[in-house]
Amino acid sequence: MNSKKISMKNVSYSITEGERNRKLLKNVTTDFEGGKITVISGPSGSGKTTLLYAMAGLLDRVEGEIHIGNTDINKLSAKEKAAIRLENISIIFQNLNLFSFMNVEDNILVPLYLKNRTVTEETRKKIAHYLDLMCLGQIQEKKISNLSGGEQQRVAIIRALIDDPEVVLCDEPTASLDSENTHQFMETLVKISRESGAAIIIVTHDARVFAYGEEKVTMVDGELFDDENNVI
Ligand SMILES: Nc1ncnc2c1ncn2[C@@H]1O[C@H](COP(=O)(O)OP(=O)(O)O)[C@@H](O)[C@H]1O
Ligand SMILES: [Mg+2]
Repeated sequence: MNSKKISMKNVSYSITEGERNRKLLKNVTTDFEGGKITVISGPSGSGKTTLLYAMAGLLDRVEGEIHIGNTDINKLSAKEKAAIRLENISIIFQNLNLFSFMNVEDNILVPLYLKNRTVTEETRKKIAHYLDLMCLGQIQEKKISNLSGGEQQRVAIIRALIDDPEVVLCDEPTASLDSENTHQFMETLVKISRESGAAIIIVTHDARVFAYGEEKVTMVDGELFDDENNVI
């Protein structure tokens, strides 16, 4: 369960601004383990979202290696990256992208629909189990628009985990939540990360979230630092 799920080696990413080259990621070298939550904090504009995009294979011209399992996604074509992403990576952004007119169960099943997977009895049991784990009750039939922001956030986690991804990337997932919902969100994420074995990577500048990180790193100006302030 605890094999390393994603590792980055000398990952750099630059953009051109007028005549100048600007490095948004500088030689990032790190591993993210399965079954663990890593929290990446850091000031606004330091490159956190860019790092998540690089990990998801969403950027072109990234330097270095990004291994998911045994595959270096940085060596793949855009089409191959998209296939790896669909199979292995879930992304939760601040804007959840849930379908408000659909019910909870159909929203959770979207990743399976996208892959043309059949929905088995086992999948439905897993949804029921995750809903319980998240203290949501059996709300499969409820419309998303009838749920609170905190409840929607927890539905988004279930959707992210339903098809057993290797890696879950979350960008400021608690930005719109109050303290109580933030703690509930993080506690459920901790439980579920242990059960699923996924590597969960959360980018945030929310100090309440930072406290839940089993691994804590900080990004400053495109560089990652560990919790003893050493560059990694
Ligand atoms: N495609 C892009 N073109 C130009 N500037 C960008 C692009 N993507 C990010 N940036 C800039 O790079 C810096 C890092 O952005 P970002 O990764 O979003 O930081 P964070 O998520 O830590 O706030 C910011 O200054 C941002 O304006
Ligand atoms: Mg950001």
